[in-house]
Amino acid sequence: MLNQVEHIGIAVRDLADANALYTRLLGVEPYKMEEVETEGVMTSFFRTGETKIELLMATRPDSPIAAYLDKRGEGIHHIAFDVADIHAEMARLKQEGFRLLNDEPKRGADNKLICFIHPKSAGGVLVELCQSIPESDTL
Ligand code: CO
Repeated sequence: MLNQVEHIGIAVRDLADANALYTRLLGVEPYKMEEVETEGVMTSFFRTGETKIELLMATRPDSPIAAYLDKRGEGIHHIAFDVADIHAEMARLKQEGFRLLNDEPKRGADNKLICFIHPKSAGGVLVELCQSIPESDTL
């Protein structure tokens, strides 16, 4: 099963501008910024109670976030759910007929193993599964 909403991902054009905006909105500053080179994104994270807000800015034109911004503009990009066992959930969802965007979990920002579910198979919502991994672990 999918556990609590781990974070909500928001696509932004300019991370510095968005950091300033969300700091004013949420009343808290980002606790980390992290580049995910393989995805072509720079992220920043805010804690909001039990969950988080993840801002995503493209770092190159072929980034999925660049394509998203071109098509839909800034706004909510994905909803991420915490899972205890990402391999088991990927197998379960595949069995349920959902289309996964990757066959194996990928390393995401914030020390997570992640997998995305295609929005076409999930009611128009890009869903991310994420499992926390200890800082010291390597894949
Ligand atoms: Co995310």
